[in-house]
Amino acid sequence: MKSNILEIKGLKKTFKMPNGHKIEAVKGINFDVKRGEVFGFLGPNGAGKSTTISMLTTQRKATDGEILLDGESLIQHPARARKKIGVVAQHNNLDRGLTARENLIYHARYFGMDMSNANRKADEYLEKFGLADRQHDYVRSYSGGMAQRLKIARAMMHTPEILYLDEPTTGLDPSYRTILWEQMTELNRAGTTIFLTTHYMEEPEKLCDRIAIVNQGELKAIGTSDELKALIPSKNIVSLKLNRLEASYAEAAGRLPGVAKATIQNGILLLFIHDAQPDFNMIIDWTKNLGTELQNISLSTSTLDDVFIHLTGKDFMNHESK
Ligand SMILES: Nc1ncnc2c1ncn2[C@@H]1O[C@H](COP(=O)(O)OP(=O)(O)OP(=O)(O)O)[C@@H](O)[C@H]1O
Ligand SMILES: [Mg+2]
Repeated sequence: MKSNILEIKGLKKTFKMPNGHKIEAVKGINFDVKRGEVFGFLGPNGAGKSTTISMLTTQRKATDGEILLDGESLIQHPARARKKIGVVAQHNNLDRGLTARENLIYHARYFGMDMSNANRKADEYLEKFGLADRQHDYVRSYSGGMAQRLKIARAMMHTPEILYLDEPTTGLDPSYRTILWEQMTELNRAGTTIFLTTHYMEEPEKLCDRIAIVNQGELKAIGTSDELKALIPSKNIVSLKLNRLEASYAEAAGRLPGVAKATIQNGILLLFIHDAQPDFNMIIDWTKNLGTELQNISLSTSTLDDVFIHLTGKDFMNHESK
């Protein structure tokens, strides 16, 4: 049994706006992260992911609750906690008036690395993230993707005990996405715990040991991807593209034989089917009776995307017909 590196109890953040409006960004969440795991934190825009990360990384004060890092209160000992943490924030928080290399070296020195170690690591990461030939240019001259790569390199420089990555693939082309995952996996193998938010569902499914799904400041579910998939009515899903769609079709489809549940997402009618082999003829006949034309029908097995839709009622990615 792995020990917990992080224990989060009743964590809450309420923002008070100047006009008196209160936003409950995080509504008292409880969960643990195990030492050495890759933990995915998934939710739609505005779910409270970045706000949670900002509290876990000491950048924002919690309104209420407790955070234990390595068994010690991070809220009471933020300076000690900071030494163990690496963070790739969602926004660009690089020092734009420094060169890439200076950003890395100053960061490493702040974390107590000696100069030769700092230089060695900087060389390694500048090379890996394709920035070696631009390392002496000011960050203000960097493209979005280059800045993102530098943010990732910086967070990895001091081999943190726990690395927070808030939507780290933003702005990265596919080849650098692969490099990010390779570097992340390498750090993880060497002992770093990873806390990752992302909007791309295939990634957490492949990379994460466990995943938490958050929505509107609340934790909706937590578990392995298989455990989460077991939460939806069935793992076989028929997608129907019709040239006209009405809300009543989902209700009617939900009553068809063999159908556990039906919903409409992104203009597609989804039928959750009990059996692996649905009765396509019956479904096609049913669409004919609706007086609408069937443009496409396909069968897929459920993905984390479907779990997400089921738990949050939101489709924050494009649900592609598979
Ligand atoms: N500094 C702030 N002041 C006021 N409200 C804030 C602030 N930061 C975040 N919020 C609010 O808190 C809620 C959660 O925001 P947060 O940035 O944590 O979401 P998120 O899950 O990271 O979303 P995204 O996927 O868009 O990054 C939102 O309603 C947001 O408007
Ligand atoms: Mg965010």
